[in-house]
Amino acid sequence: MIGMSTTRTVLSFHWFIFGFDGRIGSWANCVSISPVTYFLYLDSMATLEIQTGDAPILRETAVPIPEIDADLLQLIADMFETMYAVQGIGLAAPQIGVSKRLIIIDIEEHHPEYPRIALINPVITMAVGEELGEEGCLSLPGIRGMVQRSATVKVEGLLPNGDKIEFDASGLMARVLQHERDHLDGVLFTDLLIPGDQQLLEPPPEMATEI
Ligand code: NI
Repeated sequence: MIGMSTTRTVLSFHWFIFGFDGRIGSWANCVSISPVTYFLYLDSMATLEIQTGDAPILRETAVPIPEIDADLLQLIADMFETMYAVQGIGLAAPQIGVSKRLIIIDIEEHHPEYPRIALINPVITMAVGEELGEEGCLSLPGIRGMVQRSATVKVEGLLPNGDKIEFDASGLMARVLQHERDHLDGVLFTDLLIPGDQQLLEPPPEMATEI
């Protein structure tokens, strides 16, 4: 069931979703990605209701997306609209009540080397190193904690235009990719907190790191 609100904002401009074209450097060099090879525009978008707390869908295994159609593109646009409305940097489809393997990420403002992206059926094919970092989640408001993640990951999936993409990510991008990917298997970051470090933290208001 889609938790779609009744509010639908009609925009007077064409709204673009940008993606990678995935020019990947060597594994050692990590990422070399050029932006913006596809787009779509939609005349309207909706803000969706974010599932929180112990909503059962957050614990489900999401199903692969068999084909890219207009409904999926609308869903992607609505997810971006929803994420921006709450100052998030990442969102997975189960978080808005759709149990499908779809994630979106936008950390472009502070990490322009990673243009914003929607990834369909994402798979992490390689993970290297470890890195400890603080996380929060739009579905778990008010909770933050330190999570150990792989420092660098290789990810593959489909872009909204149907192109396959494979790229390497490190730092915050690697963290957000792993966090969102976990949502597709019903895993929340609180499952991964270091024992003894299960903190309920007030997120700093200036930090937009809810994913
Ligand atoms: Ni999350």
